[in-house]
Amino acid sequence: MPNAVRAASIDELPPGGCLEVTIQDHVVALFNVEGRVYAMDGVCPHAGGPLGKGDLQGDVITCPWHGWQFDVTTGAHCLSPTIQHPCYPVQLEGDEIFVELP
Ligand code: FES
Repeated sequence: MPNAVRAASIDELPPGGCLEVTIQDHVVALFNVEGRVYAMDGVCPHAGGPLGKGDLQGDVITCPWHGWQFDVTTGAHCLSPTIQHPCYPVQLEGDEIFVELP
């Protein structure tokens, strides 16, 4: 991943957890689903809510502002198939999480 940027340490993101980070002016939401880490645009497309501060249940994040839900593994909105939220590739190097931004 040539444009990968360090986002966090895995110690900050235990299984079942989510985390909001800012990388190069991008707000990124990180999620740990049973040990696998996923990253998506951290700004909810509904009204800008912080997806990295939402409630993660399994692989579904619920936005804390109005409850929109997304599959963090794909970025797909759980109810509206026309809404696709950007996801970013993730790579783990040791305990460090790297994200490739667009
Ligand atoms: S801002 Fe996320 S559901 Fe409204």
